[in-house]
Amino acid sequence: MAKPKRYLVTAALPYANGPVHIGHLAGCYLLADIYVRYLRLAGEDVKFICGSDEHGVPITIKARSEGISPQQVVDTYHFLMKNAFADFGISFDIYARTSSDLHHRISSEFFKTLYDKGVFTEEETEQYFDEQAGQFLADRYIQGTCPKCGFTSAYGDQCENCGTSLNPTDLIEPRSTLSGSKPVLKKTKNWYLPLDNFQKSIEEYIESLKGVLKPNVYGQVKSWLNQGLAPRAMTRDLDWGVPVPLEGATGKVLYVWFDAPIGYISATQELLPDTWRAYWQSEECALIHFIGKDNIVFHCIIFPAMLMAHGDFILPANVPANEFLNLEGNKISTSRNWAIWLHEYLTEMPGRESELRYVLTSIAPETSDSEFTWKDYQARVNNELVAISGNLVNRILTLIQKYYGGVIPFDLSDFDNAPELEEAVSTAGKAIDSFIRQFKFRNALQSWMDLARAGNKYLTDTEPWKLHKNKPEEAQRILFNGLVLLGHLAKWMFPFMPHAADKLLAMLGNKRISYISDSIVWSANEKLPIPELLFRKMEDAELEPQILKLSAIKNQDQSIRSTPKAIKETIVFEDFQKLDLRIAHILAAEPIPKADKLLKITLDTGVDRRIVVSGVAHQYSPEDLVGKNVLLLANLAPRKIRGIESHGMILFAENSDGQLVTVEPTKPVDSGSSVF
Ligand code: MF3
Ligand code: ZN
Repeated sequence: MAKPKRYLVTAALPYANGPVHIGHLAGCYLLADIYVRYLRLAGEDVKFICGSDEHGVPITIKARSEGISPQQVVDTYHFLMKNAFADFGISFDIYARTSSDLHHRISSEFFKTLYDKGVFTEEETEQYFDEQAGQFLADRYIQGTCPKCGFTSAYGDQCENCGTSLNPTDLIEPRSTLSGSKPVLKKTKNWYLPLDNFQKSIEEYIESLKGVLKPNVYGQVKSWLNQGLAPRAMTRDLDWGVPVPLEGATGKVLYVWFDAPIGYISATQELLPDTWRAYWQSEECALIHFIGKDNIVFHCIIFPAMLMAHGDFILPANVPANEFLNLEGNKISTSRNWAIWLHEYLTEMPGRESELRYVLTSIAPETSDSEFTWKDYQARVNNELVAISGNLVNRILTLIQKYYGGVIPFDLSDFDNAPELEEAVSTAGKAIDSFIRQFKFRNALQSWMDLARAGNKYLTDTEPWKLHKNKPEEAQRILFNGLVLLGHLAKWMFPFMPHAADKLLAMLGNKRISYISDSIVWSANEKLPIPELLFRKMEDAELEPQILKLSAIKNQDQSIRSTPKAIKETIVFEDFQKLDLRIAHILAAEPIPKADKLLKITLDTGVDRRIVVSGVAHQYSPEDLVGKNVLLLANLAPRKIRGIESHGMILFAENSDGQLVTVEPTKPVDSGSSVF
């Protein structure tokens, strides 16, 4: 594709049945926002589209379990999400909703167009029907006994005990969760999109995007295509959704995955009633879908097939899908409440939007799953944001206050003889541009931080505080070069951390930038405001409530645990007997100089006293260990560690945070007792 004239960027419409969590942000919304903010800054014509996905069976289930209507469910979450996104600086041009009249009309027309073109096939199937409730049952509304494992509460689509995917008719003794009655099979007619007819066109389309799609996306689509595409029902027997606009289709709605992506189109029409065609129906526009990896098939196969069948629309130019973010060793789970919810974060850690944006971008699951922990968050905030970029800003602005009362001595817009800074700015600018356009947001953010590093190096190399007295002009040149650098730093920070960028621009004298090509100018005698800290350190005390909150959830739910390692290969008893396992008493422990992980531990094994070197200095201080009776592997061949001969190995258990924990007898035993 030649360089597009316009960009239409979408972020997956989140289901309105729960709030937004950090996994959504790191895998989709935040990255899309950085992309869009950058394109705007680069002067591109770009529109950023999102909204709530308000249909589908899970929403009806939630409504039923809470005794409210589906509309009430989606009203609650739609506004909760919309506000949280806005507060976090996700700069959608529109955040629409699929329960709107406009969306109903547009998705209904889309369906009708395909129907009139004869795209769909009609199929009659037998589906479970609840005679008491008088309705067909979605798979999730049927429970029964799993034919594989005998679990009695398996669902019609999956057994949550053994993970097997099921058809409702596989269940033994099925029952309706609506009435508890035994459902009966009843004939029903639905309309199918014969994806098999699109196999070839989709293959060609995907081949045309080879090298454009990220390898993880391309690979997943290929494997779907290799399995061969099969027809898929585009209508459902359900009473919540967009009604099927055909005669004889009462009680049927459009499949949620049919109407939801059309939500991108209807939202664009709501935003741009007169000009939306310049985006959706113009080859000059690049349509880009940001999604999580579980949405790949819908955006790379089903939606493109729908668009092809319709004929009036462009196809996605790219689908930057991301993998998943885990939280403290476990999969994020809305139903288990194992998540950090955006709206809670924003109220519990006010003013910390940039910190979360920074950390989530740094660990974005761009090519593989990644992991959020509060300790890592704290380390990144303190050691990177505060210590590198915050420190640079603070050094320059406080020296300018100290030496010049904050007054700019001359008209200023550019570096004065600082080739190293010029170079750093141009390198960072090129790198950020190219990384962002390739959806490599982690690298782009690194390049921004490198610019701050270059600034710190410049100050350390030139030491203006030493020159101020004897070479005041030199010191002044250096510090105002530093100020110019801060202008660039603020500008390039904008897409990643708009809140902090605004704060920095205010500290630079209420500056404003609209485009990346703008330069910030100061005039002689302009006075800078008294600077504040750009980023605040994250103290343990501030973090503690968050950590406690998660551990409370974990303690309530045994299923949130790290997956234990698989059992090792079988050994015979004789193998085991070779191990000398015994209880040993710790007599002394001391740190080892220049090895901050290691402790030198003296043990009484019952038959001798010996030294063992153990890598637990981060978990235990020497005095914690002295006096403990621990489990020792006593006949391990001696080994020199940091010049100290270690005779054996103390055995530890590893907890879910990766910490090592001593294994001790629960009743008193003598040193040297064997363990068998
Ligand atoms: N609601 C879906 C999810 O959260 C995403 C829908 S994306 C759209 O997984 F394309 F259908 F809008
Ligand atoms: Zn099962």
